[in-house]
Amino acid sequence: TTPQIGLIGLGTMGAALALNIAEKGFPIAVWNRTAQVTQDFHAAAGDLAGRITPTATLADLVAAISPPRSIILMVPAGPAVDEQVAALSALLGPDDLVIDAGNANFHDTNRRNAAGLPFRFMGIGVSGGEEGARHGPAIMAGGASADWARMAPVLQAIAARAEDGTPCADHMGPAGAGHFVKSVHNGIEYADMQMIAEVYGVMRDGLGMDAPAIGTTFARWNEGTLRSYLVEISGIVAQAKDAASGGPLLDVILDAAGQKGTGRWTVIEAQNLAAPIPVIEAAVMARNVSSRVAERAAGEAVFGPGPEPVTGLSTGDLEQALIAGKILCYAQGFAMMSAAGGEFGWALDMPAIARVWRAGCIIRSAMLNDMAEALAEDPGRNLMLAPFFADHLRLSLPALRKVVAAGALHGLSCPALAFGLAWFDAMRTARGTANMIQAQRDFFGLHGFKRLDGLDLPHGPWAKG
Ligand code: 6PG
Repeated sequence: TTPQIGLIGLGTMGAALALNIAEKGFPIAVWNRTAQVTQDFHAAAGDLAGRITPTATLADLVAAISPPRSIILMVPAGPAVDEQVAALSALLGPDDLVIDAGNANFHDTNRRNAAGLPFRFMGIGVSGGEEGARHGPAIMAGGASADWARMAPVLQAIAARAEDGTPCADHMGPAGAGHFVKSVHNGIEYADMQMIAEVYGVMRDGLGMDAPAIGTTFARWNEGTLRSYLVEISGIVAQAKDAASGGPLLDVILDAAGQKGTGRWTVIEAQNLAAPIPVIEAAVMARNVSSRVAERAAGEAVFGPGPEPVTGLSTGDLEQALIAGKILCYAQGFAMMSAAGGEFGWALDMPAIARVWRAGCIIRSAMLNDMAEALAEDPGRNLMLAPFFADHLRLSLPALRKVVAAGALHGLSCPALAFGLAWFDAMRTARGTANMIQAQRDFFGLHGFKRLDGLDLPHGPWAKG
């Protein structure tokens, strides 16, 4: 059988995705810029090799696929995508479809989509790392409805399945909508990871727990409300032993976090939309701070070590603080997506997004089931106001306050948890403090203000004339 699907880019993710597609019964032609990579991939494909057609050139790839062709790009985001799109422009026709499955910036996807390409174009966000790509990722698709309809049988077949059996692949909206939702996913991924790192720090430096004990704690949390992939793997990594030192592996890993930019894009976009996502902002900030290794050492040399032992705090408090932080983070993320939907004219479906994130992706968690339900009740309502989550917050906020306060008093940096709490306190305060800002703005710039009594007196006594 001649393939109707092709895939370009046999790196870790591309290779895993191609095997997944072949395994689900779809013949596929593959091509990698380095011919040896293509050959090695095919040679290692085992039982699936018969459904995979290795090709030596881009033209061979196109020739090996019967029209209308669907070609998945799995190359690094950025110029490599533009290069492939340009090369394919000479080879494909108007019924062919190119699907960028990398972590593209959604503005790039919008730009490519609007560029009058000689073929159809989609951008899909694929989450779940190598394991997900191989056995079931979460897929956030952006593009024309007709193109989604064309690809849905394949994408839903290869996607992860939620506990209720629904495939975690859905159409988010036109053009860049899929990559936009994927970048918010990654922003939340950064935030979930950061909050876990913060409570890890409190356990290590505040409570004096060793890595195996911390790992056991995470493993226990993974049995409850916090059940999630990231808490699960945090338990596993904290328990891992290092062959070289004989001690915990975590203790020998440099504390400088890498990043490829998706979290930063989310924060920049949130700023453009004036949609506050402070937990994610704190997470990106913390990664940037973490990479300043020498400066942090210089800071410690001048001010002395920061973290001090903490008393009166239990791991139960940390578990509850993490629950609260997580709810606040997701409330911000979904509110940002609502703002983006309005701004970009996309009908982003909040419950559908929560449902797609239930399995396969890095942020998958038990709580996303409840979030999907709460958002379905009222998609426009801030998640923290949904009765289910409001109840959870009432229970967990005292612990969040305790942890943030202990961090502040004892030099344990917990920016994501602290920003979440500050956002919450602002968002539940009807009479805030921006009256002061408005008066200041009027004082130095005569910017005017509205009054609570409705009188039309927009300036203070400093206004002349
Ligand atoms: C996923 C991940 C994946 C990848 C990111 C992480 O959903 O599967 O988000 O896309 O791990 O590249 O990004 P950083 O390198 O920025 O941490």
